[in-house]
Amino acid sequence: MNDTTIDQVTDHKKVHQTSQPIVNCTNLKKSYSEGTGRQAKLVTEVLKGVDLTIAQGEQVAILGQSGSGKSTLLHLMGMLDEPTEGQLFINNVDVTQLSDDKKAQFRNQNMGFIYQFHHLLTEFSALENVAMPLLISGVVRKVALEKAKVLLEDVGLGHRLSHNPSQMSGGERQRVAIARALVNNPSLVLADEPTGNLDKKNAEHVFDLFLKLNQQSNTTLVVVTHDLLLAERFDRIIQLDDGVIV
Ligand SMILES: Nc1ncnc2c1ncn2[C@@H]1O[C@H](COP(=O)(O)OP(=O)(O)O)[C@@H](O)[C@H]1O
Ligand SMILES: [Mg+2]
Repeated sequence: MNDTTIDQVTDHKKVHQTSQPIVNCTNLKKSYSEGTGRQAKLVTEVLKGVDLTIAQGEQVAILGQSGSGKSTLLHLMGMLDEPTEGQLFINNVDVTQLSDDKKAQFRNQNMGFIYQFHHLLTEFSALENVAMPLLISGVVRKVALEKAKVLLEDVGLGHRLSHNPSQMSGGERQRVAIARALVNNPSLVLADEPTGNLDKKNAEHVFDLFLKLNQQSNTTLVVVTHDLLLAERFDRIIQLDDGVIV
């Protein structure tokens, strides 16, 4: 326990100021070049120097027009892609210096990523999909399945354990994807328009789940969304415009 515990009970926003940054990017840039080798040209600078610090336990919504670089930024924070320039620290680790193996391990232990389209494995049941990250990290099958079951119950899908993704609605699939992202108790959850394909009621339900998770486990949330009303439920809104935070 550290000295923020009392504040935590009385004022969770205060904790954000006193606790460690979980994400710290400085002058983060990302460019894409078209073509490869000698033919490579036409460099598109997508992120033009992003400075951003996110504290453990913060809820951050990222807004911005289509093409402004939101997914690119989220992918860099999720170590799914590498910056062209700049610094990126996650949990005080300079993640740009990690080998691919170490990156995968770090991601598996610290992060949950939720995509706009669920990316579930279609041949596996909801239960197996959620258990997968645990199985990959070597947890015994029985334990992994039990933990997955608890999480699916948490997201209201205790009655859908043996269903395949094709046998579920869009909202149900997205909740399975959320349960899967949370199964390793990540300290950082990154979600890219997780409600983009859901109706209003299901979208609100997904945000309810995020907020509950944040309150229960102090999980840091970084969520890209188009929906200003949903974004306003979060502590902090960041606006990206043409590759910079405005
Ligand atoms: N792999 C890529 N190669 C070239 N350009 C890309 C690539 N990925 C994204 N872009 C370009 O980067 C810009 C920002 O994309 P993205 O981060 O997906 O924006 P957003 O998520 O805000 O809609 C877009 O103009 C897009 O065309
Ligand atoms: Mg996007």
